[in-house]
Amino acid sequence: MKLLKSITMISLFTTMLLAEAPQEVRTELQKTVEIGESSSNMLIQTLGKNMKEHMGKGGVMDALKFCSNEAYSLTSDVNKKTVAGVALKRISLKQRNPANAPKENEAKILEAFESLKALNVVMPEYLVEKVADKIYKYYKPITMNNEVCLKCHGKISEDIDLKREITKVYPLDRAFDYKMNDLRGAVVVTITHQ
Ligand code: HEC
Repeated sequence: MKLLKSITMISLFTTMLLAEAPQEVRTELQKTVEIGESSSNMLIQTLGKNMKEHMGKGGVMDALKFCSNEAYSLTSDVNKKTVAGVALKRISLKQRNPANAPKENEAKILEAFESLKALNVVMPEYLVEKVADKIYKYYKPITMNNEVCLKCHGKISEDIDLKREITKVYPLDRAFDYKMNDLRGAVVVTITHQ
């Protein structure tokens, strides 16, 4: 009887443990996805809205000034608006700003996105990398899905003034000759859970 009771207790305890463990992992992952999604959307929308306004006001040259002077700092501003433990950035294998070059596993993950794309796999909305205990990176792929992007990331050599302005600020620029539907890079949200 005593043995049966102990076995019941043990199995009850293991069931609880088993039920607890995945639950814990799931909520941390769920939180990662929620935070990743909302902060990457906030960044994409803020950049998109500003670019549209500048394009409408002063055309591509005005929009370029915005992208050169403010896109990077705006990313830091959006960073400040997000909760503590969340950091945002944009990365690309063929970057314009060297500060947007991928670090650690980021290049491998961008290459993995490229491989999937080459196999005609429908691009996943996001990927999550577990970096360390309680630290995750949420990756949202950025595709050239708008003709307007090509103005500054397409055949820019056709517009001499634009090309000159871009090279003045970014002498190491590699972010051109993209075509529609190419993978441009990713938004990376690094999330550190308490
Ligand atoms: C008016 C010119 C212009 C247009 C239009 C434009 N970009 Fe950019 N883009 C830039 C500049 C300049 C940078 C470098 C910003 C910085 O210093 O971080 C940049 C940087 C980026 C980066 C960060 C990686 C890198 O190369 O440094 C991504 C990703 C990106 N652009 C995607 C897009 C997408 C997607 C669109 C269309 C919605 C777009 N861009 C439209 C000028 C432009």
